[in-house]
Amino acid sequence: MTATEASVAAPAGRSNGPSVQDVLARDRVPPPSTLCQESQIDLGHEPIPVERYISSEWHTLEVERLWKRVWQVACREDDLRRVGDTYVYDVADLSFLLVRAEAGIRGYWNACLHRAMKLRAEEGWTPELRCAFHGWSWSYDGNMKRIPCKWDFPQLRREDLVLPQVQVDTWNGWVFINPDLEAAPLSDYLGSMPSHFPWDTTGRSVTARVSKLLRCNWKAAMEAFMESYHVIATHPQILTMLADASAQYDVFPAEVEGQPGWNRFNTLSGVASPHLRDFSDDRVLQALAAYYGIDLPSIEETGSARQSLAEALRAQSGKDTYSDSELLDNILYQVFPNFQPWAGVSPINYRFRPYGADPDECVMDVIFLIDTDGHEAPVPARVLGFDDDWTEAPELGLLAMVFDQDTSNLAHQQKGFKATKASGVQLAAYQESRIRHFHHELGRWVGDA
Ligand code: FES
Ligand SMILES: [Fe+2]
Repeated sequence: MTATEASVAAPAGRSNGPSVQDVLARDRVPPPSTLCQESQIDLGHEPIPVERYISSEWHTLEVERLWKRVWQVACREDDLRRVGDTYVYDVADLSFLLVRAEAGIRGYWNACLHRAMKLRAEEGWTPELRCAFHGWSWSYDGNMKRIPCKWDFPQLRREDLVLPQVQVDTWNGWVFINPDLEAAPLSDYLGSMPSHFPWDTTGRSVTARVSKLLRCNWKAAMEAFMESYHVIATHPQILTMLADASAQYDVFPAEVEGQPGWNRFNTLSGVASPHLRDFSDDRVLQALAAYYGIDLPSIEETGSARQSLAEALRAQSGKDTYSDSELLDNILYQVFPNFQPWAGVSPINYRFRPYGADPDECVMDVIFLIDTDGHEAPVPARVLGFDDDWTEAPELGLLAMVFDQDTSNLAHQQKGFKATKASGVQLAAYQESRIRHFHHELGRWVGDA
């Protein structure tokens, strides 16, 4: 990008500087067609009620109307590679047990039918689903196998003791569950999103899995990763190479009535922020070389700093089939309510979950999926406590420091929700349109408290 281009007058409602589509149109290796599309829905400008972030009543409604009714990511298929592998997925105060049975993956409410103890507390292979308290046990298919001293339960018949199931389906290597047995299938729920996500991750391995406890509502944490508007204040160190204010935000409608739509954004790398007026492309190149720690071909050779980075990353990664944008850019999709896979070569995936019954606490999961030589078993999860830094997870690399910047705001925001005298949370019309879309869907599912 040249200084002249950065001074181009902005269309109404958009930043100055070239748009994402302007830049993509000049990339040497053009992106897949979906990244050339734009979509928006006008959902108004009303503030978001703060009660959604702090109220116990709203939290209870979310559990009943959202988490018990919605398709949600539980784990990867790789977490359940062998018959007998199990995975425990907790969300709010709910717990679900995934197991690979002979006939495929099964999901159960993770509670013993005797005195309700969690059937399993953690993942791993097991010869049967056996409760550790008194030893009741079930087959992988959920049929009762054994009750010690069965003679002492004259009120119970074996057929009444089948483990209650949840719906299970998969997309792109992810195992989704839906506790609502009446819910429409996952394909209806995802709608057009898979056709706009052409990146097959089924062959990738889980190479990092970090779960961090945060002192904020799960939605506040998630929303911090749904816009690039915060970059100027929270991550000023990357303004020299990230086109924050000219990011593209897309909101796509549902394909099947009653199901959620989905959204995404693309924030370009290798282009200076529109906030930096007259910032030369030479300086962008210097910033990129320092940040990525690699030698970059000159702008004379490639035509732009962005193109220099694309060529260097293509050579370094050996990903000849990827376009410039897939190699460089920050493209995040969102599957309602809480799953955010990055697109392109990026290994990053986010998930955000309420933690127990407290609307002031949540868990942010970061899962890396990488093409490895051969399909590897997932790495064990690392759990970071409320007071741990992301940098205590070295497997996250440079991202850890950026995450620390992101999440350092969140406990203060949660306190601010309780201190505010404003009528609600204000959202930018365009740059925070994904958050508005999310709340529109949330309102449809949960309704007003
Ligand atoms: S609570 Fe599970 S066997 Fe008793
Ligand atoms: Fe951020």
